[in-house]
Amino acid sequence: MTEEERFVLTHGMLSLPLAGKLPADAIVGAGYVAGIPRLGIPPLRETDATLGVAYLGGLRGKEGATPLPAGLALASSWNPQLARQAGETIGLEAKQKGFNVLLAGGVNLVREPRNGRSFEYLSEDPLLSGILGGASIAGIQSNKIISTVKHFALNDQETARNYVDVRVSEANARESDLLAFQIAIERGDPGSVMCAYNLVNGAYTCDSDWLLNKVLKRDWGYKGFVMSDWGSVPGVSTAMNGLDQQSGSQLDKAVYLDKPLKDAASADPGVAARVRDMNRRILRSMFAHGLEDTPPAPKPIDAKAGLAVAEAVAKEGIVLLRNERDVLPLSAIAKKIAVIGGYADTGVLSGGGSSQVQMTGGPAATVPVGGEVPEALAFLLPGETYHRSNPLKAIRARAKGADVTFTSGRYVSEAVDAAKAADVAIVFATEWRTENKDVPDLNLPNGQDALVAAVAKANPNTVVVLQTGGPVLMPWLSDTAAVLEAWYPGGSGGEAIASVLFGETNPSGKLPVTFPRSIADLPRTVIEGKDLPSSGMFPAPPPAGVTYRADYDVEGSDVGYRWYAREGKRPLFPFGFGLSYSRFETSALTTDGKVARFTVTNTGARAGATVGQVYLVSAGGERRRRLVAFKKVFLQPGEHRVLDAAIDPRLLSEWESGRWSIKGGEYSFALGSDAETLGPPVTVKLRPRRWSDRPAPSK
Ligand code: GLC
Repeated sequence: MTEEERFVLTHGMLSLPLAGKLPADAIVGAGYVAGIPRLGIPPLRETDATLGVAYLGGLRGKEGATPLPAGLALASSWNPQLARQAGETIGLEAKQKGFNVLLAGGVNLVREPRNGRSFEYLSEDPLLSGILGGASIAGIQSNKIISTVKHFALNDQETARNYVDVRVSEANARESDLLAFQIAIERGDPGSVMCAYNLVNGAYTCDSDWLLNKVLKRDWGYKGFVMSDWGSVPGVSTAMNGLDQQSGSQLDKAVYLDKPLKDAASADPGVAARVRDMNRRILRSMFAHGLEDTPPAPKPIDAKAGLAVAEAVAKEGIVLLRNERDVLPLSAIAKKIAVIGGYADTGVLSGGGSSQVQMTGGPAATVPVGGEVPEALAFLLPGETYHRSNPLKAIRARAKGADVTFTSGRYVSEAVDAAKAADVAIVFATEWRTENKDVPDLNLPNGQDALVAAVAKANPNTVVVLQTGGPVLMPWLSDTAAVLEAWYPGGSGGEAIASVLFGETNPSGKLPVTFPRSIADLPRTVIEGKDLPSSGMFPAPPPAGVTYRADYDVEGSDVGYRWYAREGKRPLFPFGFGLSYSRFETSALTTDGKVARFTVTNTGARAGATVGQVYLVSAGGERRRRLVAFKKVFLQPGEHRVLDAAIDPRLLSEWESGRWSIKGGEYSFALGSDAETLGPPVTVKLRPRRWSDRPAPSK
């Protein structure tokens, strides 16, 4: 590479026409990094994101892509093979559309249940998020494109995301959010890690020597490259602190990793050496993932095949939370079914922001949500959009001979009349979430709690179908007969919901996040930075001298179910919870601390699946609650299976002075049907052990 060429790959641009004329070999997408034709180095064409190829408001034309269900739905499946298959699907579509980088792999923990991007992420647990995130990344990259893993790290809230300074001890970070990334990187080998907007312990993550040079590159031995998020680069110092590529550079105050870096390199050989390392890392990933093997040859996607995968994820991701008197699956008795609310006659809900995918032709409906966005970016935040998969139609197709009515739910009185006149009332409730904005509370918006409560009072066979972007409160719960959490169910979500309602699919989803009883039970009742004067995609800075410090050491590494167990708080629905139309038993747990062996039996009358969950409940005499292993299994009625699940030793450890440390002594484990419902403990003696993550120095 010539001196000049060394400053080509180190920065990219937002590849949208609004940012001026695009280079000839760029395509409309999230990002473009010029290649070096002289050396046969292709450009990087980058698109969002974790749930499929983003639609960008139709800027790339009306051909859409497969909208996968929310990450929470995928995580509710607890199925790494399915995560890989979903990744293969969206990676292929990105390739077919001419992209060679998919900005996917969102594995931030759902530490803050009000996070506007919870729907894009997976869970509150580092093992579940790491394993599923890694599988998805591996699937994406099987198409010879690069996937990212993001947003590194502790970008666990949208409120004041460009300014919030997360305060967290190294041990707490290593044992929670960082462990999710570490496992995802080990299993998925992402070509790139995307650093985030926020600060951690006073340093912007894209300028954090600790996070990028020490944790990621030194301790974890990461060989790929770090790209920034779009508009998250504070200066040229980021290069020496571990950033390799500035993305969407028009959104920063300068293209720091171009001329300013060139000037720094010509003045300091150490910087010049670092520039060579930046190029080496980027090129290594491009060649390791075969980008130059098969240059993109755009072709139409196979929408049918994609939607079949989306449907499989939605079906395995639906969580049956309540089913009194086995009112589900709907049986022939239901001669009159009242379907109410949630735009169930139109489509299924999806989440907003950079991850927004649309099917060909765009959304079935868009409900404006207001808010101030720069005119030029309005297409990015159109509002609540509904995919064309129609729950009412799918219900009617299965309710043979029944009279199925639909009521919009706009008037409670009208919904109550419809519910009174029916054998079963199915009320759909929606909670839209988006990037850039956390939800202010966990109540259903638009007065839906009152609607659900009134319908449930009017009909004892009320079934609630939730399409939410995270956990919600349920003040009406005790009056309902059944509750399904369908999350954002993706491009075939209507079919998946109806398939579970009528029993074609036996629900097997298990919650990947805790549903609290109250906001008061959270580690932080108020989200730090809530009073930031402006909002939107790139809010104006806080008033001079105002900083926002989010103290994540309150819960520390005890995120989610670990917090409720430590504090003795009972959640509404615990992590790992989910009912089935069948019945399962898990038994006979044995373990040596390295592998957990247990038996799962289907004691019910129909085939189904469940997840054996193994929790650490005490370590060296101290109480713990940590998922240490899990295995999903599909069983015929009466069938049982003995399963082995490896225990990751890091989950038995504490991070102490730069190493993982197992204190030694008695360690007790228990099988759980969820994080709160645990079987008898099995105790083993473990020897003390300390080890470092750092790879042995390469010979
Ligand atoms: C966004 C998101 C990131 C996305 C990037 C490109 O602001 O934080 O997830 O990949 O910018 O759109």
